Amino acid sequence: MVLFTFLCSLALAASSLTAAVPLESGAQPHPEQNKAHSNALAKSQSSSSSGALPAPLCFPSLGFQMPLFLPKDNTHWWCDPTTEYAFVGFSYEVTACQSREQLHKEFRDIRQHFSSRYVRLYGACDRDGFYDDIVDAAWDNGLGVHALVWFGFDGSDIWISRRDTLFAALHANPKAKFITRVVQFGSEPLFDNVLPHDQLAEQVILAKANLSSLNIPVTVSELAYGYQERGGAQDVLDAIDSINIHMLPFFSQNASTSDKAWPLVLNDLQWFIDHGNGKKMYFDENGWPSVTSPSVQPNSPLAVADIPNEHGYYILLDQHCEDLKSVVGGGVGWFAHIYSDDQEPGYGIYNSSGHLKFPFAPRTHC
Ligand SMILES: *[C@@H]1O[C@H](CO)[C@@H](O)[C@H](O)[C@H]1NC(C)=O
Ligand SMILES: *[C@@H]1O[C@H](CO)[C@@H](O)[C@H](O)[C@H]1NC(C)=O
Ligand SMILES: *[C@@H]1O[C@H](CO)[C@@H](O)[C@H](O)[C@H]1NC(C)=O
Repeated sequence: MVLFTFLCSLALAASSLTAAVPLESGAQPHPEQNKAHSNALAKSQSSSSSGALPAPLCFPSLGFQMPLFLPKDNTHWWCDPTTEYAFVGFSYEVTACQSREQLHKEFRDIRQHFSSRYVRLYGACDRDGFYDDIVDAAWDNGLGVHALVWFGFDGSDIWISRRDTLFAALHANPKAKFITRVVQFGSEPLFDNVLPHDQLAEQVILAKANLSSLNIPVTVSELAYGYQERGGAQDVLDAIDSINIHMLPFFSQNASTSDKAWPLVLNDLQWFIDHGNGKKMYFDENGWPSVTSPSVQPNSPLAVADIPNEHGYYILLDQHCEDLKSVVGGGVGWFAHIYSDDQEPGYGIYNSSGHLKFPFAPRTHC
């Protein structure tokens, strides 16, 4: 019952946010802010000459033509992350262990209907060969993948065998390094306290070493609050290659309607700008629910969960496309959480009968 426990974890997030130091305490501008920001900017500008080809000659830019044969290596394969911002794709939960056919059908829809560049995996499927099915579906549809080592919420060590299985597949499947943009540890390992932050940082460093011959970077998928409640976990922030942020402003104590959520988004984003040392940032778990449930409860009496507000959150991100583009690291790329209500009730772009809940054609550039 990964889904149920995830929802519980959101509820826990809710209750601990209520009880703990308010998220909003970081909102006051502080003196280092501008300095950190300009250092980070300088850093990203000097690293932009990566040798990457421009779109549409780089994977997975819109318009890229998949080659008939595998390239020799992936060094001139990927688009420069500092050019990737705006809507990049969907979170996609795999706990249902989708069939190959369903993966192909939905990845085609994700690429062609919504102009996605990436899929961010969420949850876990322990079926033999499942990641090979993901690789094939992604390759055939021109999508990059943010793969995931899933901790779950049961406090067990199953993540270790999941990590080993994933890494073995990444090494064994010749296509895997061409579609796997990053490996995430998640979801919310700091917030859930599945490992002390220094051990998590060490796992990230070990994973980077393991995957370095494949040129696959490593990250952690986490809330700002997850870092903040672990004293900032600067060791983790320093270890990760990109910052994969959970942006869920519905749970803020200041939440009301999604059209008023921008200051809440900025509050968390600014924390990562201040502490992230200029690294590329994604909102990789990012959305607003259309329903509450016993385990998805707001921390603000004014927070509204309905379809117009779920839709409104993505409109808000589109309206701030230029602002997100100008963020250090080449701009924030955002994922919509999540593809279908079947994967997480209330967060889907599709409802559980397979109908779009609202028109969804977010900007992919600005
Ligand atoms: C949340 O509301 C409080 C009280 O009005 C305010 O002081 C704080 O700055 C707000 N935080 C954000 C992130 O908007
Ligand atoms: C990478 O990790 C896998 C799974 O744990 C392991 O079998 C493999 O030997 C490791 N490879 C390197 C180069 O560390
Ligand atoms: C899904 O959306 C369609 C079209 O709006 C609607 O008829 C249907 O009742 C919805 N299904 C659910 C489960 O909400």
